[in-house]
Amino acid sequence: MKLFAGLLMASSVVLASDRNLSSDLPGTQITSTSLGNYSLPITSLVTFGTGVIGGLFRPNSHQNPAKAKIGVLVMHAEQDYTTFYPCSELPVRGYTTLCLNNAQSKTGLMNDLDFETMMTDVGVGVQYLNDLPDIDQVVLWGHSGGGAMMAAYQNVAENSVSACNGTEKLYPCSAAVDNLPPADGILLIDANFGLSTMTLLSVNPAIENESTGTEINSTLNLYSPQNGWTENGANYTSGFAHRFFGGVASRWEKIVSSAEERNELIKAGNGEYTDDEGLVIPDANYLGTNNKLISQDTRYLAHTVYKWPLLHKEGRVSTQVVPSVRVADAGIPSNVDSFYDGALKTTVTRFLSTFAIRIDTTLFNVTADNITGVDWTSSQTAPIGSVPGISKPLLTMGNTGHYEYLNAEKIYLAAKSEDKSIAFTEGAQHTINTCTECETYPGQFGNTVKTAFDFMDKWLSKPGRFIAA
Ligand SMILES: *[C@@H]1O[C@H](CO)[C@@H](O)[C@H](O)[C@H]1NC(C)=O
Ligand SMILES: *[C@@H]1O[C@H](CO)[C@@H](O)[C@H](O)[C@H]1NC(C)=O
Ligand SMILES: *[C@@H]1O[C@H](CO)[C@@H](O)[C@H](O)[C@H]1NC(C)=O
Ligand SMILES: *[C@@H]1O[C@H](CO)[C@@H](O)[C@H](O)[C@H]1NC(C)=O
Ligand SMILES: *[C@@H]1O[C@H](CO)[C@@H](O)[C@H](O)[C@H]1NC(C)=O
Ligand SMILES: *[C@@H]1O[C@H](CO)[C@@H](O)[C@H](O)[C@H]1NC(C)=O
Ligand SMILES: *[C@@H]1O[C@H](CO)[C@@H](O)[C@H](O)[C@H]1NC(C)=O
Ligand SMILES: *[C@@H]1O[C@H](CO)[C@@H](O)[C@H](O)[C@H]1NC(C)=O
Repeated sequence: MKLFAGLLMASSVVLASDRNLSSDLPGTQITSTSLGNYSLPITSLVTFGTGVIGGLFRPNSHQNPAKAKIGVLVMHAEQDYTTFYPCSELPVRGYTTLCLNNAQSKTGLMNDLDFETMMTDVGVGVQYLNDLPDIDQVVLWGHSGGGAMMAAYQNVAENSVSACNGTEKLYPCSAAVDNLPPADGILLIDANFGLSTMTLLSVNPAIENESTGTEINSTLNLYSPQNGWTENGANYTSGFAHRFFGGVASRWEKIVSSAEERNELIKAGNGEYTDDEGLVIPDANYLGTNNKLISQDTRYLAHTVYKWPLLHKEGRVSTQVVPSVRVADAGIPSNVDSFYDGALKTTVTRFLSTFAIRIDTTLFNVTADNITGVDWTSSQTAPIGSVPGISKPLLTMGNTGHYEYLNAEKIYLAAKSEDKSIAFTEGAQHTINTCTECETYPGQFGNTVKTAFDFMDKWLSKPGRFIAA
């Protein structure tokens, strides 16, 4: 083990010859990472008896002790993240990493998300790391919808309840989210445009009756060859795109105003219940597999507006307008008549607090490099609306194998932190691993997990940021 200890901080060339390590040392386990297989301490279970549960993943004792004093909190808005890349890629690079699940259900079937519960569950993890005697700095790590959640958390924790109870919000927060402990920094990795905006981008305008997913207006059908769709992807006609986004805007307006009306009735004691009401919205499920038009036609959300650092394999960096290299999700069948895959299953108050956002119907549009007409501050879960309130060091990264990557640019532009950074990982899928189907030749993008986490490592360990200069 001593030999190994010295090697761990050496170059990756040396590491490559040292992958035959056994886990015979008590208290260690072999962990497979983008740097090779390493012996790391056995994960300790961390549970709070509230459904918030996960593991504390520590670096081994041969790592730089200053890095080990940084505690990174990983949590997603809904899914199980206890086996996701950061839980091994950060410890192998020296960081203490707490991968916690929040208390929302993990089947992905029922959209069990609630803004205030998300905030308090993140707070439990931050407090736990703050209380560990060997942790000096706590850093949030949010990916995808978890990025939307973490950005909202840090904004509310730094600025208190006044960051989320204003009249600009469709559903102002309550005092339940007061006094959350702020973290010392935040990483937003392919953070999406917000749970709310991803719902908006999933709305099917062809739905004719809000009570069922089985009545469809064919002139708005995304899967019609007449509208520009093929089995290999779509080049939608400009007429169709115009009809489609116009239809999204008008259906969305109706859904949001109907939820606001039901909420007023509930508050007045005239609802179906006194505290909330069920709300099932046909073909509006926010999950990535149900995002519409942008996923079929790769000309949308296709490149950044400005030039940014683009990380290529083996450490090469270029500064350029960053294109997406994604391929179309054309083969995904329509979810329109599916309750589980298509419909958003929520409640009136959860819809307003977690999934809703205001738009200007005359300005709403999706283009090659932007989304327009969205009032980002009206929602609790849109990073563009949250990051202006964050003062701590902020890193935003986008994965060019997916369309959500474009939000990294918008986050960076909106961020007010004096210490903000941005980079894009070329050819990484939304899930950080290499998008091999995006490659023009095998190996083009290399190991994007390594590229992305090597960059995060450099950012986290930069002297003067979380480690004393
Ligand atoms: C890996 O295997 C080689 C060849 O058997 C051996 O010389 C070396 O010591 C081993 N390394 C470790 C870290 O066990
Ligand atoms: C790491 O370990 C796994 C499982 O034992 C093995 O399949 C894989 O080849 C190893 N990877 C490297 C780089 O040695
Ligand atoms: C928001 O919360 C702050 C702090 O509790 C309070 O002073 C303020 O009046 C609240 N704002 C609204 C619009 O309720
Ligand atoms: C909408 O669908 C529901 C459920 O199928 C049905 O009861 C209702 O009559 C429909 N409304 C209209 C206007 O067709
Ligand atoms: C279907 O959509 C088109 C285009 O948006 C619209 O003009 C038409 O009125 C719709 N038909 C029905 C039956 O709602
Ligand atoms: C869309 O149009 C472009 C440019 O004409 C073409 O290269 C591409 O293959 C088309 N895509 C599909 C799915 O038809
Ligand atoms: C939406 O953007 C497209 C470019 O993608 C543009 O051609 C179209 O005119 C815009 N529509 C509206 C309503 O602004
Ligand atoms: C995107 O559109 C919004 C709204 O129209 C605009 O304020 C913003 O400047 C645009 N972003 C970029 C990077 O051009």
